[in-house]
Amino acid sequence: MMIRTDILQGDCRDVLATLADNSIDLIFTSPPYADQRKTTYGGITPDRYVEWFLPITEQLLRVLKPTGTFVLNIKEKAAKGERSTYVLELILEMRKQGWLWTEEFIWHKKNCYPGKWSNRFRDAWERLLQFNKDRRFNMYQEAVMVPTGDWKHKRLAKLSATDKIRDTSKTVSGFGKNISHWLDRPQAYPSNVLHLATECANKNHSAAFPEALPEWFIKLFTQDGNTVLDPFMGSGTTNIVAQRMGRNSIGIEIQTEYCELAKQRLEPAAIKLFDIKQNYGTFTENPLYAVH
Ligand SMILES: C[S@@+](CC[C@H](N)C(=O)[O-])C[C@H]1O[C@@H](n2cnc3c(N)ncnc32)[C@H](O)[C@@H]1O
Repeated sequence: MMIRTDILQGDCRDVLATLADNSIDLIFTSPPYADQRKTTYGGITPDRYVEWFLPITEQLLRVLKPTGTFVLNIKEKAAKGERSTYVLELILEMRKQGWLWTEEFIWHKKNCYPGKWSNRFRDAWERLLQFNKDRRFNMYQEAVMVPTGDWKHKRLAKLSATDKIRDTSKTVSGFGKNISHWLDRPQAYPSNVLHLATECANKNHSAAFPEALPEWFIKLFTQDGNTVLDPFMGSGTTNIVAQRMGRNSIGIEIQTEYCELAKQRLEPAAIKLFDIKQNYGTFTENPLYAVH
């Protein structure tokens, strides 16, 4: 099977308009967070963030298949003694746009830097907000199962007979459901908290995420030959993982140097770099050049 990896250079607010309706299975991205890394790629202030982002999510809604999923990695920082609320406001506005806010996953950063702040503790997690167009979307839960582990023997040994039948938990132990039938199973479904280290293979982009992050969501929401989009591609982590996993992908990035970086990191055979300034209708038909 031929896997396509298309890198589109330009502002995703313009580039997204060239993608076909209902053509993407998974959108996985980490946009610039408000007011962060201004010197690297500009910063949008928290009070303007929603206004800046909504035209983009409108396009994302259009290009996503009805069975597809949009996962947004974002985390508001604290300033002047308060957490910013722009992410919460964004969720509310996106719901008005027609998105369902289906789930929120937490990325627990296992190895975040230690530190001391006067009125809070260190940030050790980021949000992965899941949005969908429809309540019925593709989800391949078996692809992300985890080993049940030895803990089950220790914890189940303490349960009474009534705790082992389907019943409301009396102890708020989390064992309200009949979990005894998981005893003999080698694998269980994971929770919505992902414990991943922050380090990533790419040292040339200041905000690259670890490959394990897109990998987990690509497994969960796509199958071979599906198409993944990252509209804020950066160094191409999402596309590199998608390519390795046999998924087609499209990456959009405003900075030429990051497009070049992604190109170097990708397997060359299937890469095509497009210049979005050309008016070429469907971008898939008119590559400016192909790297083989
Ligand atoms: C948080 S970084 C993404 C890093 C990426 N996940 C990786 O692993 O390398 C956000 C990226 O979005 C790019 N960007 C910012 N505004 C953009 C826009 N309007 N259109 C496309 N890319 C944009 C920035 O240049 C930056 O590389």
